[in-house]
Amino acid sequence: MAKIGVFPVLSPEEAAAKIPDGATVAFSGFGHAGAAKVLPKALEVRARSEHENGRPYRLRVMTGASSKSIDEPLARADAISWRIPYQSESGLRKMINRQEVEYVDMHLSQVPEMVSAGFYGKIDFAVIEATEVTTDGRVYLTTSIGASPSYLKHADRVLIELNHYHSVRLREMADITILSAPPHRGGVHLHSPLSRIGLPYAEVDPRRIVGIVESDEPDMIVDFAPPDDRSNKIAEHVVKFLVEEIASGHVPPEFLPLQAGVGNVANGVMSALGENEDIPPFQMYAEVFQDSLVELMERGKLQGVSTTGLILTPENLQRLYENMDFFIPRIVLRPQEISNHGGVVFRLGVIAMNTALEVDIYGNVNSSHVFGTDIMNGIGGSGEFTRNAFLSIYVCPSIAKGGKISSIVPMTPHVDNNEHAVQIVVTEQGLADLRGLGPLQRARAIIENCAHPAYRDYLHRYLEKSRVGHIRHDLDSCFELHINLMEQGAMLPDLDFSQF
Ligand code: COA
Repeated sequence: MAKIGVFPVLSPEEAAAKIPDGATVAFSGFGHAGAAKVLPKALEVRARSEHENGRPYRLRVMTGASSKSIDEPLARADAISWRIPYQSESGLRKMINRQEVEYVDMHLSQVPEMVSAGFYGKIDFAVIEATEVTTDGRVYLTTSIGASPSYLKHADRVLIELNHYHSVRLREMADITILSAPPHRGGVHLHSPLSRIGLPYAEVDPRRIVGIVESDEPDMIVDFAPPDDRSNKIAEHVVKFLVEEIASGHVPPEFLPLQAGVGNVANGVMSALGENEDIPPFQMYAEVFQDSLVELMERGKLQGVSTTGLILTPENLQRLYENMDFFIPRIVLRPQEISNHGGVVFRLGVIAMNTALEVDIYGNVNSSHVFGTDIMNGIGGSGEFTRNAFLSIYVCPSIAKGGKISSIVPMTPHVDNNEHAVQIVVTEQGLADLRGLGPLQRARAIIENCAHPAYRDYLHRYLEKSRVGHIRHDLDSCFELHINLMEQGAMLPDLDFSQF
């Protein structure tokens, strides 16, 4: 049998044959970066064959975060029974919403700790993408760190996907540490986004490595839509606000580290922020490093990034690989419990910018569940950033689906981040600065500044007719817009939709 070091080289089929029905499998992968690629396809084939022969084959699947190259094939073959902690794949999303898959939508920073504490039972297999594994158990990870160090530490057996596509120099960006269990946790001594406290590799007991599968595939990262007019308007409001915050002395002149969440809107806002000359060069303490940031870094506007994944299309990743001497000193890749560590976010005074599906008139944010029932992606890392940020900003377009949906609603039917942590809401209409405002003032600021004009009268009327308390609400009609949307296809069906 062929070997790499002391480890047997397996075909993807041989590796898949080792993983039995019902196993808990922890895969590498965060935001599709650094995810296992070859084995999931072989598992898809195995699952189909088992199902055709009348045998069950479904796995309990963990990752760092969304991982298209894992979720797509496994969902296609109905091979997932349970999934944590985040996903964004359309096939899997449908299965979750039909309750065919149990999905635990959770704060991403908590995954390693909860796995280490044994909250989810034992991990049968870890499947981890790497550029190299040494005979003494050093595993050099690829484009994401995510929860892989903890999965390698706790899995009974380990399969390595050795991916020759990636630059071996990625290890020079990695800074890996695993926090001790309480009460001996100790501090996380990070005092700037680019500080380093760990090792360039993850560690595993080499006796638990059952084989290596070779691969040569890029990450499955999809292009973002180019920023549209609405994203550009949102960005204008955010930039103006941040410039004023510096001028007023709320934010120091050297600026503070930024965090931007996932999605088209956040990507657009970041590229517009980078264009603006009134925003000084900045650093980021975030969980994702997306396409729009590569150019900003090349231009010197973005001076450094702490992240857990390089969520880059193959073209942009190649730009990095061709110029590693430039990028390595500017990027640190960390495990997700550190990239999203609430204490560090607080210490650094991060300005957090995340995206909402909808925001209620008091500032409660729903980023994950349409109608409060149907999952979109999940809460992701938005919670730890929002709750601990120096400034927490939420952005979204004021309307969706050609005006049939208002993103500003009386009450969100699901809350990911609540009014106590959300300080600033921005749509293309404008910005509502909620700091220091009582509930009625908040509601008026959000309706006047953020709601689309076509929905403002409705929202004001809702407020006026509501039961008066510290917060005004009318429990009979607080979800009227959502019910209209479900039953009549639009939140306010009588609007003239040609106006949008
Ligand atoms: N109700 C129903 N659907 C809505 C909606 C609403 N209020 N608002 C938007 N949508 C739809 C859009 O029409 C679009 O649908 P489509 O895919 O059929 O075109 C879809 O939701 C995505 O909207 P888009 O405006 O393209 O948003 P995005 O790509 O910027 O993503 C989130 C927005 C909220 C889905 C995304 O940011 C997310 O999953 N966030 C949660 C996790 C997170 O914040 N992680 C980062 C932390 S570091």
